[in-house]
Amino acid sequence: MKKILLLGPPGVGKGTQAARLCERFGVPHISTGDMLREHIARDSALGRRAKEFMDAGKLVPDELVISMLVERVSRADCADGFLLDGFPRTEAQAEALDVRPEAAPSAVADIDLDDDSIVARLSGRLVHPASGRVYHREFSPPKKSGLDDETGEPLIQRDDDKPEVIRKRLAVYREQTSPLKARYQKAAEDGKLRHIQCDGGREIDAVFAELAAALEQ
Ligand code: AP5
Repeated sequence: MKKILLLGPPGVGKGTQAARLCERFGVPHISTGDMLREHIARDSALGRRAKEFMDAGKLVPDELVISMLVERVSRADCADGFLLDGFPRTEAQAEALDVRPEAAPSAVADIDLDDDSIVARLSGRLVHPASGRVYHREFSPPKKSGLDDETGEPLIQRDDDKPEVIRKRLAVYREQTSPLKARYQKAAEDGKLRHIQCDGGREIDAVFAELAAALEQ
C-alpha cells in the first residue's frame, strides 16, 4: 500500500507533482492547503479561523489541522493508500500520523529548492480554484492565457502569493517544518519507511520521472 508524503517548502512543486503521482499510483491527493481553502470558500467556522493565519503566511493551529486530516484519511477512499501534500508541517502533526498506523507514511519524498527560485515560481503561479489545477505564467502556461485548460474558467492568483507573504511562508517552513527532515531520515535508517531526497530545481517532467521511479519500487 502506498502512503506517500511530500515534504518541501512552499512553491517547490508539491501540488504539481502530487497531481501526476496520484494519477500514476491511483491514490487520493490530500492537500491540507486545498482543504483549508475549500473551508474558506464555504465560509465555514474552520475556514473563518484559518483565513487570518493563511493570509499572514503563518501555520494554521495544529488542533484545527490535525482533526481535519485525521477525519480525511479515515475515509474509505484512503483504505488502499493516499498522498499527503502539505501535512505534516510541525512535530505535533508528524506525531499525529505516527500514533495511527493506518495513517503513518510508507514513503517520504523530500523536495527542495533555493528561496529565490521559489519566489519566482510563486509570483507567477496561477490556480484554477475549483479543481486546484496549477499553472505558471512562464514555466507551465495554460493553453489560453488566464483560462483553465479543462473548463475554460478564469485562473486566479492566490492571496498568499504576494512577495511579502511568500517570504514569511518560507521563514515559517525553514523554522517549523524543515526539522521534520531529520525525523524522516532517522525513520528511514530504522527501516520504517523509504526516504527520497529530490532536487526540485529541474523541469517538471524530470522531477516526476525521478519520484515515480523511486516510489515504484
Ligand atoms: P499550501 O496550500 O499547502 O501551500 P504550500 O505548502 O505553501 O505550497 P504551495 O501550494 O504554495 O506550493 P507547491 O509546493 O504545491 O508548489 P506548486 O506545485 O503549486 O498551504 C497554504 C497555507 O495553508 C499555509 O501557508 C498554511 O497557512 C496553511 N496550511 C496548509 N497545510 C497546513 C498544515 N498542515 N498545518 C498548518 N497550516 C497549514 O508549484 C508552484 C509554482 O511553480 C506553480 O506555478 C507551478 O506551475 C510551478 N512549478 C512547479 N514545479 C515546477 C518546476 N519543476 N519547474 C518550473 N516551475 C514549476
